[in-house]
Amino acid sequence: MEITLSIIKADIGAIGGHMAPSAQLLATVRQHILEEAANILIDSYISYTGDDIALLMTHKRGTGDEAVHRLALDAFLAGTEVARAQGLYGAGQDLVKDAFSANVRGMGPAVAEMEFEERPNEPFLFFAADKTDPGAYNLPLYLAFADPMNTPGLFLSQKLAQGFRFVIMDVGHTECDRIIELVAPEDLYDIAALLRDPQRYVVESVWSRASSEQAAVVSTSRLRDVAGKSTGKDDPVMVLRTQMHFPSTGELLAPFQVGHFVAGGVRGSHNMPLMPCTLNSPVSYFDGPPVVTCAAFACHEGRLTEPVDAFAHPFWDAVREHVAAKAMEMRRQGFFGSAMLPLAQLEYTGVAERIERLQGRFRERED
Ligand code: 13P
Ligand code: MG
Ligand code: MG
Repeated sequence: MEITLSIIKADIGAIGGHMAPSAQLLATVRQHILEEAANILIDSYISYTGDDIALLMTHKRGTGDEAVHRLALDAFLAGTEVARAQGLYGAGQDLVKDAFSANVRGMGPAVAEMEFEERPNEPFLFFAADKTDPGAYNLPLYLAFADPMNTPGLFLSQKLAQGFRFVIMDVGHTECDRIIELVAPEDLYDIAALLRDPQRYVVESVWSRASSEQAAVVSTSRLRDVAGKSTGKDDPVMVLRTQMHFPSTGELLAPFQVGHFVAGGVRGSHNMPLMPCTLNSPVSYFDGPPVVTCAAFACHEGRLTEPVDAFAHPFWDAVREHVAAKAMEMRRQGFFGSAMLPLAQLEYTGVAERIERLQGRFRERED
């Protein structure tokens, strides 16, 4: 049976600045989906990560479906009313364009969708991250799908040994969406050369070369371009299918113990380590640290089991402690050097304007 997984995610307002949506806001979005989903969805799961609400929906209508996207948008619009009524910060923040034509792509919400032939058992992982951008998944995807030090299945399993195809988007290219397809292991150094720059090159999807099945999809929307100006980080969602032709769940989760530095934190302008947290976690320290959550599911004929909270296991407490120490260490150097993003990637124009004003006061040294 062909099913489609659609994840549509938006920040439509939060308590305490950019921390977490209110219970009433979440309930309104949930209720809207439950009431209006008949004849559109098979199943759904609604959760939040930091200030972002993600709608995970299963159906048989294919990707980019108008009814599914309309349903998500209307749920977010209903939620925005509540956010306004409650005085939440950033009510409707990610709904940056009004005109709906066929789907929500280009309107602000992040979208990750995958259509596939459901396996007899269909385990998958749903990731959501806040206070960072889609390039945050570059390192975990590289390690999970291309590095046998992380994924021994790459040589233990004949299915995985044929490698994976990476579709990588050039998010810095403004005229059009540009992608490149590279295969691991043959193109490993090319893949590495692109993925080392997560602000410019972002993995969009990963495919098994043994079965041609899709393994991964990442939301690669760009709020910066959508709005014509920056309205926040493109807090990304991702789905990874696991087992059989794909890495095991353990191999897919393992890279998140690194707590790698990503763009994020206060004002979307800093480098902070990514902390794996439990489902429905708010953010806190320095508007972060950037958080990632993971809900593991099994799925049959589009019906979802309850989620297992992948980062709730006690193992991740030690990782969180380590990541907190890394975060504090980076923050000790304030705005200096690599603690803050380079000028071109700052969401605020204040530094550029200040430096521009100072240009006239520079003079040639006479001695
Ligand atoms: P969000 O993109 O999650 O709304 O965060 C904005 C921000 O800059 C927080 O400091
Ligand atoms: Mg916000
Ligand atoms: Mg957010």
